[in-house]
Amino acid sequence: MKISVIGCGYLGAVHAASMAELGHEVIGIDVDQPKIDALSKAKAPFYEPGFEGLLERTLATGRLRFSTDFADAVGSKVHFLCVGTPQKRSEYAADLRYVEGATESLIGVVAPGELIVGKSTVPVGTAARLAELVEEKVPGALLAWNPEFLREGFAVQDTLHPDRLVYGLPSGTDGDTARALLDEVYETIVAAGTPKVEADYATAEMVKTAANSFLATKISFINAMAELCEATGADVKLLADAIGYDDRIGRKFLNAGLGFGGGCLPKDIRAFMARAGELGADQALTFLREVDNINMRRRIRMVELAREVCDGSLLGKRVAVLGAAFKPNSDDIRDSPALNVAAQLQLQGAVVRVTDPAAIENSRKLWPQLDYADTAEEAAERADAVLVLTEWQDYRDLDPAAFGRIVKQKRVLDGRNALDREAWTAAGWSYRALGRRAG
Ligand code: UDX
Repeated sequence: MKISVIGCGYLGAVHAASMAELGHEVIGIDVDQPKIDALSKAKAPFYEPGFEGLLERTLATGRLRFSTDFADAVGSKVHFLCVGTPQKRSEYAADLRYVEGATESLIGVVAPGELIVGKSTVPVGTAARLAELVEEKVPGALLAWNPEFLREGFAVQDTLHPDRLVYGLPSGTDGDTARALLDEVYETIVAAGTPKVEADYATAEMVKTAANSFLATKISFINAMAELCEATGADVKLLADAIGYDDRIGRKFLNAGLGFGGGCLPKDIRAFMARAGELGADQALTFLREVDNINMRRRIRMVELAREVCDGSLLGKRVAVLGAAFKPNSDDIRDSPALNVAAQLQLQGAVVRVTDPAAIENSRKLWPQLDYADTAEEAAERADAVLVLTEWQDYRDLDPAAFGRIVKQKRVLDGRNALDREAWTAAGWSYRALGRRAG
């Protein structure tokens, strides 16, 4: 099938290549010329394991192309809308200008019988509004909403082997046409027995924000327990293991630490609250404000803990920060808890050296005033304290004995509860973590 993918950021670029992998003929379109040039040469504009290999493979088949010209979308049967919906600068609501702009542009190229498929995370009600617009301008063209649940670091796998497909469909025969087209796009995924949920637009839009709100709530729940553990001397890691054995609860997303960041969870819960307010249902989501509060408190607590281990003052103390990305296997620093803490420490007088296997270049652009090192060893040279703020495998694998010979003071703060406490304390380190007793 001929497919166009509008917006070649994280979501769109991976989606375009994945659709080509499934056998479709795909044109990826973006206004950003350097991005299109890079993608056309099989260069990923972001760090994502497995993505460049997929790009190389699919470009070589001739089924995948990238362009800055919307006219290249003419003739595609399905047009995926994959543009970003960031948080507005001065409020919680989502900024829909890219979704609206892309829809306007698509209206200029789409023909009756073709299907526009929204994948971007949008406030509930957006799809119905856009469908009206499409119907008015190009009668016979259809719109569906098909949210994407990919995780950074697993984007290729999540796109090719999703745990479910959600179709937000128009009613009546239009719905049948849209369903048939989506089933054709996802033929191999459907054939693999992937669960499929067919719903109205509003439900499909809400599935995404509800899922991310649930995940954020789960993380903040365990982080609230971590606060209590600190007050009582209990151990949050053992607590998470123990409650996680209950199938109804599950151990996933119960890792206490510095909390959630990234381009989705923080902005999605805020946009969800803003939308609930507009709908007169704000009370339903007031708990998300607390989820956000607990999450932001973790960063403050981490800075306090660093001050505490540095004998009560950060002034002039050398602090090594291991990790800048919002999570491992990513170079994404959007709302990164690690980088946020690093910047706070620096602002409070510490001499901070940050390292990360993938995110230094991005970090330097956002926080040029921080000092960056290529390796953990370099960052930790003569350090008064070492903070592990993103749980890259490289940092989990550090040898505490050898690492101890580099620093000035053997003090480690495990911001992600990722290190082997026994091994570090056995090597003479003082070990601190959020929600666990000092070791
Ligand atoms: C998330 C959703 O998981 C995905 O389904 C959606 O499509 C986009 O948003 P992503 O932003 O890639 O994906 O990251 P995710 O793996 O969910 O992690 C989010 C944040 O939560 C990270 O900062 C991570 O470090 C943190 N986290 C995760 C915890 O603090 N504890 C956990 O137990 C799990």
